[in-house]
Amino acid sequence: MAKARIVYVCSACGASSPRWRGQCEGCGAWNTLAEKAASPAQPRSAAASPLYSEKPVSLSGFKAETAPAAPTGIPDLDRVLGSGMQPGAAVLLGGEPGIGKSTLLLQLAGQVASANRRAVYVSGEESLGQLAARARRLGLDHPGLLAVSTTSASDAAAALAEADTPALVVVDSVQTMASSYADGVPGSPGQVRAVASELVDAVKRGNSTLILVGHVTKEGLIAGPKILEHMVDTVLYLEGDRQHFYRILRVFKNRFGPTDELMVLEMQGDGLTPVPDPSTYFLGERDATASGSAVVLALEGKRPFAVEMQALASKSYLAMPRRTALGLDLNRLNLLLAVLEKRLGIQLGQSDIYAKTGGGLKLTDPGLDLGLVAAVLSSYYDRPLPPRAVFWGEVDLSGRIRPVSGHEARLKQATRLGYEPIFHPPAEGRGVATLKDFQRALFGA
Ligand code: TYD
Ligand code: MG
Repeated sequence: MAKARIVYVCSACGASSPRWRGQCEGCGAWNTLAEKAASPAQPRSAAASPLYSEKPVSLSGFKAETAPAAPTGIPDLDRVLGSGMQPGAAVLLGGEPGIGKSTLLLQLAGQVASANRRAVYVSGEESLGQLAARARRLGLDHPGLLAVSTTSASDAAAALAEADTPALVVVDSVQTMASSYADGVPGSPGQVRAVASELVDAVKRGNSTLILVGHVTKEGLIAGPKILEHMVDTVLYLEGDRQHFYRILRVFKNRFGPTDELMVLEMQGDGLTPVPDPSTYFLGERDATASGSAVVLALEGKRPFAVEMQALASKSYLAMPRRTALGLDLNRLNLLLAVLEKRLGIQLGQSDIYAKTGGGLKLTDPGLDLGLVAAVLSSYYDRPLPPRAVFWGEVDLSGRIRPVSGHEARLKQATRLGYEPIFHPPAEGRGVATLKDFQRALFGA
């Protein structure tokens, strides 16, 4: 028999090293490495499932036995997932603590159960009593909604291997589960990887869909979903701002569908509700008669959303005037202000400039440049913009207005929502070409 290999494993994070060290290379802790016989890696066994084989199989005669995707009962979510829940698929749902992951997934499990299919919610965070209370609060009462309260990854894997396979198994969360295939405390990188690998392996051999919850923290992604993204078929992130009620569910990776889909949800007293037409949801209570307010059609994923951009230019009493950006990149604001100074000859050196997006939505779309510029100019001249005007376009350092992706989609949306006038980059003989033209068209300056 081969002699067992010796490794040194950190008791804090589970990282292993072939040599003893005073400090762990994984987490930086001191004197945490202890000697251990290395356990062999656990390969996926091809047993039982006709979809796996350790021997080469000809693909030409192979009949795809994969069961078709099943609807979740939430049409928007089916669109985000591609075509619903794919049997045998592993989905990772990431998001900050408290953002609503457990709420969303318990609601989803309830939907599945209400369609007379089995859904198992495995929680390592909450007791059965807490889960039942939450289910009651969300108005979920179906005999097919089952719960397991455990922190053992093999218990969770067992739920996936049951003969009467559940349609959906939720495991909440990957950071609270412990796998016997790795050392270290739950939530450490080694454990998180082992838990995910154990569960993904189990789901691949059956017909359930697995949704694994992973917490992401603001500070960093240590031991978070980042190290799992390559192990699963689909990665979703639930984001939002705890100060606001909206949440956005985004797709980052999807083996079964497009990655630029998203859905907007609203957190209410009875859980998360999809927003049916989110295209004007982020406009909120906009005062169109105030200066410094512009509407942009920003592209998020494939969809154009009307979002308010606000700017305030006020006399500065500071040696270094203040520049503040909320929901958008400060560097981008600074760049646009420099372009305005240089290309339009506007003096902003004596002004504090504040800019924010309505509703706190975080935007990275380059197409919002033109709207931001419109809001800044409107505040600078203290003249409101035309109340139904809408903007998109990227602004160059030269003061040119450049085309952005999704022009057709934005134009269609702007027309549908009845915006007029529409300011956009040159296309088919229409649009504005330079900042100078733009300034003239809006303010006659
Ligand atoms: P939760 O789903 O527990 O977040 P996560 O699993 O991502 O950590 O969401 C918790 C927050 O949601 C909590 O602050 C309370 C709020 N909430 C509601 O506003 N309405 C509800 O119906 C529920 C269940 C939670
Ligand atoms: Mg939770």
